[in-house]
Amino acid sequence: MTDAPAPRDIDGNPVRAGLPMAMLAELTHRCPLACPYCSNPLELTRVQAELTAAEWADTFRQAAELGVLQVHLSGGEPASRRDLAEIARAARDAGLYVNLITSGIGLTEARLRELDGVVDHIQLSLQGIDAEMADWISGYGGSFARKMQVAEWIGAIGFPLTLNAVVHRQNLDRLPEMIALAERLGCRRIEVATVQFHGWADLNRRPLMPTMAQAAQAREVVNAARARLRGRMVIDYVPADHHAVYPKSCMGGWGSTGLNIAPDGTVLPCHAAQTIAGLHFDNIRERGLARIWHHGDAFNAFRGTAWLPEPCQSCDRREVDFGGCRCQAMAMAGDARATDPVCSRSPFNARLRAEAEADAASDDTALVYRRMPKEKRT
Ligand code: SF4
Ligand code: FES
Repeated sequence: MTDAPAPRDIDGNPVRAGLPMAMLAELTHRCPLACPYCSNPLELTRVQAELTAAEWADTFRQAAELGVLQVHLSGGEPASRRDLAEIARAARDAGLYVNLITSGIGLTEARLRELDGVVDHIQLSLQGIDAEMADWISGYGGSFARKMQVAEWIGAIGFPLTLNAVVHRQNLDRLPEMIALAERLGCRRIEVATVQFHGWADLNRRPLMPTMAQAAQAREVVNAARARLRGRMVIDYVPADHHAVYPKSCMGGWGSTGLNIAPDGTVLPCHAAQTIAGLHFDNIRERGLARIWHHGDAFNAFRGTAWLPEPCQSCDRREVDFGGCRCQAMAMAGDARATDPVCSRSPFNARLRAEAEADAASDDTALVYRRMPKEKRT
């Protein structure tokens, strides 16, 4: 790596990378569900372009050498890959802590037993608290019943389980029941994440945008449940961005502790980074992971805080949230370098709040589903 020029951010300031701790491995974009807030990119990777199990195994070895401690096997739906167990085993053999993020659809008891002793932890998504809600939101009849069956097998085998509840205006009022379900299933953790309105979800802002009153109520429900469940179950809560005062520290800071690998091997600083025009993304098939992490243009572009614009540059939260989310700034302000528009100090914030309130007041319930084109592996 000595022949490479010193890494610089998008403004030419010198930057230095730390070590990544976590890697999201998007094994495929295929998915049987059709959620209206799907976070897959608008341009999907074709089956034929997906990394093979052997290529994933090599990537995991490189990740472990680079310092990555945990890998999240994700998608799409990772169970859509028939070689999921082989891939998971390769991650385990590389010495990584292996977390599987799944909708449960496509997992059988036999497939789960193959993952016993290989996968350390499972995160199961939850679209609703009953079949009527969950099947409507996921656009997949019978999904809730199958998911509950999978949860039962997970408990019987003994995997630690986190429930990932994605919340929005249509289901946020039923948050107490979601938390009760997580308790009944013996979960160690429930993650309550409000829909992020970029990518496909932006098409569903009117039916899904939570109201301000719902966001405030959710905070109270979470605080009360945290107090009641202390020592038994952890509740992670990601509130609605549009109703927050300050943005989240997305990815814990760009290029600081995490990286994503897309199904075709493109190495990304976050799952939505390809929405940012003008960045060049390397592929693991062409360059080593360490070199991409330390010297890749995309990883260095927004590293550190020297490139931050005002008002972030002189803000006391500069090292807390790093100006928020670059992809959100791109989607909402048309400029990835802008202060995240969900920040109350952003010049775009007033417009954003007005739009969010108008969306939340809509009585539109028609969902635009994300259906995957059917493909066959050749
Ligand atoms: Fe964060 Fe920038 Fe807002 Fe300050 S001005 S809170 S650094 S986004
Ligand atoms: Fe890309 Fe936040 S999703 S930086």
